[in-house]
Amino acid sequence: MTQQQTAGGDVRLVGISKTYGSFTAVQPLDLTVPQGSFFALLGASGCGKTTTLRMIAGLEEATTGTVYLGGKDITDLPPYKRPVNTVFQSYALFPHLDITENVAFGLRRRGIKSVKKQVDDMLELVQLGDFARRKPHQLSGGQQQRVAVARALINHPQVLLLDEPLGALDLKLRRQMQLELKRIQTEVGITFVHVTHDQEEAMTMADTVAVMNGGRVEQLGAPADLYENPRTTFVANFLGTSNLIAGEIVSTGEDLVVAAGGGKLTLPRERCSAPTTSGGRLLLGIRPEKISLAHADDADDIAAGCNRVTGRITDSSFIGVSTQYVVESPAGTALQVYEQNIERDSRLTPGAEVVLHWNPAHTFGLDAAQDIDAGATSVEDAE
Ligand SMILES: Nc1ncnc2c1ncn2[C@@H]1O[C@H](COP(=O)(O)OP(=O)(O)OP(=O)(O)O)[C@@H](O)[C@H]1O
Ligand SMILES: [Mg+2]
Repeated sequence: MTQQQTAGGDVRLVGISKTYGSFTAVQPLDLTVPQGSFFALLGASGCGKTTTLRMIAGLEEATTGTVYLGGKDITDLPPYKRPVNTVFQSYALFPHLDITENVAFGLRRRGIKSVKKQVDDMLELVQLGDFARRKPHQLSGGQQQRVAVARALINHPQVLLLDEPLGALDLKLRRQMQLELKRIQTEVGITFVHVTHDQEEAMTMADTVAVMNGGRVEQLGAPADLYENPRTTFVANFLGTSNLIAGEIVSTGEDLVVAAGGGKLTLPRERCSAPTTSGGRLLLGIRPEKISLAHADDADDIAAGCNRVTGRITDSSFIGVSTQYVVESPAGTALQVYEQNIERDSRLTPGAEVVLHWNPAHTFGLDAAQDIDAGATSVEDAE
């Protein structure tokens, strides 16, 4: 990639906000999207994702703040003068034009006559070379969406904005298209800003994910970092599932010891984003797949130094690769445990007394002043 390109596609938002009357849709926001990266804005319905995207595109005027592209202030530029293209959820292809003409549209509008080579290249990029003469209604949803991407990319934008582009597709096709879009982005190397409310989609595709909640970015980072080190209950619950256990710090050191659920649990101090003074309240977080489940009769076999919680299985669902258990315990009424299906213990059925155990290093700590259930409504529920 050339130096020039490197400088060109940086999107920087400084103090960008949007209010509608007395309602604030986007709180003042500072954000940098590095050139060439795949950036996802992730959040539940109404949190301000589309509004943020539209301010980058110039389709929405920012109430405060500045939008920079490659270091240049573009806040006052109209949309058509910004080197930015948007792909929406509805493909909005021209139904009467064939695929070639749909893709060529931006070039024709700029008076460019010889479009064939560029259109062919674009169709090859999105792997639709054989469909050039079809009309949009003769393509599947995923194919139409790829045409929409080709139609946007042919204008050589420095930034491609995608607003829930895969929302209308069924799950399987959506998964395919996620990989496809990621491949296209890697191949063309331009900055993609992708809006989605699907956490799996954001994690699969993006280099960096910004988790939005109520018009604010709660946390920003690489997918694995966000997943392993959530700093708020919202991020812990919205990005996958977390067990959050309320407790009180009883001793501090390199490890914190926390009294919780009638026992003591340990976590590394460095994994705690809350104040760590003795006597302080804390929420301990542990992901369901990090927990192992032992029948109470085998409790003696659990390695020393593990965090342990005793409880009773109230529910179990076999989902193929894993079995998902719900466990009632003094530490929480519905702890989630995912066990890979390798050697299933036939005693682990609802009603069984069990011991949950895990490596203390896998525990994270959050500020107890937050709503423990923030973000817990799953994406599917919100739809
Ligand atoms: N023109 C408008 N006038 C008043 N309120 C608006 C307007 N446009 C958006 N809003 C409000 O701003 C908030 C953020 O809207 P936005 O479209 O950015 O949400 P979103 O995160 O994209 O949600 P979704 O996932 O449902 O698309 C919402 O509460 C919405 O009702
Ligand atoms: Mg939206």
